[in-house]
Amino acid sequence: MKVLVIGPGGREHALIRSLAADPYVTDLHCAPGNAGISSEVTTHDIDAQDPAAVVALATDLESDLVVVGPEAPLAAGVADALLIAGIPVFGPTQGAAQLEASKAFAKKVMAEAEVPTAMAKVATNTREAADALDAFGAPYVVKDDGLAAGKGVVVTSDRAEALAHAETCFEAGGTVVIEEFLDGPEVSLFVICDGTHAVPLAPAQDFKRIFDNDEGPNTGGMGAYSPLPWLPTGFVDEVMERVAYPTLRDMDSRGTPFTGVLYCGLAITTRGIRVIEFNARFGDPETQAVLARLKTPLGGLLLAAAKGELDEAEQLHWHPETAVGVVMAAENYPENPVKGAVIHGLEQAESLEGVSVLHAGTSVNAAGETVVAGGRVLAVVGLGADLHAARAKAYAGIAAISWDGAQHRTDIALKAANGQIKLSEGTH
Ligand code: AMP
Ligand code: GLY
Repeated sequence: MKVLVIGPGGREHALIRSLAADPYVTDLHCAPGNAGISSEVTTHDIDAQDPAAVVALATDLESDLVVVGPEAPLAAGVADALLIAGIPVFGPTQGAAQLEASKAFAKKVMAEAEVPTAMAKVATNTREAADALDAFGAPYVVKDDGLAAGKGVVVTSDRAEALAHAETCFEAGGTVVIEEFLDGPEVSLFVICDGTHAVPLAPAQDFKRIFDNDEGPNTGGMGAYSPLPWLPTGFVDEVMERVAYPTLRDMDSRGTPFTGVLYCGLAITTRGIRVIEFNARFGDPETQAVLARLKTPLGGLLLAAAKGELDEAEQLHWHPETAVGVVMAAENYPENPVKGAVIHGLEQAESLEGVSVLHAGTSVNAAGETVVAGGRVLAVVGLGADLHAARAKAYAGIAAISWDGAQHRTDIALKAANGQIKLSEGTH
């Protein structure tokens, strides 16, 4: 099977590694990729958000399957164009990707499908925003309605800051969604969907804030681990019954059946499971941790989803180890990442047993050196017998790698390793 992966990041590097390990995948390409991906497969420098360019490349390569990683090409209609050209694609159409591209749309679907989520109000001006903030009270949650790479959300107890974020969104011509605050630990569950059927992957936890102890601004994600030993039994089944299947049925009945990853961003609150957000793709960096444990060949699974044949797919098998992934980010990420620094120690880190290094924002300079080319630069994944062992592997990898201004969190999966994640009474 010939597979083309679309995207430039760490998630795509993880997809490439897993697809390369699938014996049925004979030919693997990526567009545009990054320095790590291009050292493993052929990469193609096209505009991945241009549907015609993606169709032309997939036709040229005679791809049997195109896997779209990021949200932007999905929202731009890349999957629609591939379907029209008769090329199997893993990833939702533009209409179905609205579940991520518009938070207001996602809320409408959740209301129709009776999926548990935070109460929310849409505001289009300062007056409406102020009324909504006062209706819910502190802590305040204000979300930009469009795609914002995980950075359009402000959670704060400062009413003036909440209102200022809403005003920034209005000035940019947008609307905002203001929500009740959800307390409790967060879980990311990736559900592979073929429009009708669905198969969950192992749950993961992401670390959104830039600094240790969940301080500082939100980022795309600074680390992740999987599986989650503290989850109540039956958690995944409950999410499938109350969230994934009702959402799939609603999307189908709207004429926009969902194929791809339904990424359920969940909070386990004192009142039970709530959806924080849907995404229409694999999460980054959770994918780097989740796929490190998947034994089942990935290409066959994604092709079955693309063809609407997930009901015939074999049951998933997982390595028993735990995976912890820690992101290394550029100086000044997330505000204004500094690019160009030369990265040292990559080979040394990769040579450590149980450690893999997945590239995100990297490129190769004129001298042939691997350099920083984006905000999140690498994810270093450790596999170990438990969370402590996996953390030790990941941080040993991190210690081998350096560049000027590199930053990472030191507490990824630490609370879970120490048994400090507590679920309140009544959540299970
Ligand atoms: P989102 O882009 O909707 O995933 O939001 C990014 C992050 O903001 C989430 O991962 C949460 O940590 C936080 N967040 C979003 N919505 C809420 C909410 N209603 N209550 C508490 N935290 C939230
Ligand atoms: N890690 C969060 C996301 O991919 O949106």
